[in-house]
Amino acid sequence: MYLLVCLTVLGTALGVPLEPAVEEVSSRDLAALYVLPTETFPTFYDVSLFLDPSNEEFFTGDVTIRISSYIETSRIILHAMEMNIGSIQVYGQRDQITNLYQNHSLATDDTHLLTIEVTEALQPLQPYILHITFTGHYAENMFGVYVSKYQEDGTTQ
Ligand SMILES: *[C@@H]1O[C@H](CO)[C@@H](O)[C@H](O)[C@H]1NC(C)=O
Repeated sequence: MYLLVCLTVLGTALGVPLEPAVEEVSSRDLAALYVLPTETFPTFYDVSLFLDPSNEEFFTGDVTIRISSYIETSRIILHAMEMNIGSIQVYGQRDQITNLYQNHSLATDDTHLLTIEVTEALQPLQPYILHITFTGHYAENMFGVYVSKYQEDGTTQ
């Protein structure tokens, strides 16, 4: 059994101008993912992106998601967009000391599915906290996070 969470980090963090494009793609992706069971309900997202304007190669970020499952499961599946995972921690909300993270794998195809295994099955209807740090690359096509330059007084900003 899988726990499926849709993590549209870039869309969530970026807000208005890019939202329509991001939404469109992520719902299309979601439709494709409906073959997976969706016995989960993320109830809370907190996303931080750390953008360094002098670094055009990548940005770092972290996301905290509170999740619950309708079923007992030891596998969490996230729709993770294009990112390199730094670290993953999974905690029961009542015991925020024991990290239940076991391992993870990221799909090499374009589904961007991140599968996380935990050491101890998540119990139904219990809140868990998932914390992920990552680095992402700026998109070249204005989709997702992109680098924007403008000219001011003849210097490139
Ligand atoms: C993760 O750990 C589980 C349990 O030990 C194992 O069955 C699975 O193959 C591991 N997956 C990866 C990607 O290492």
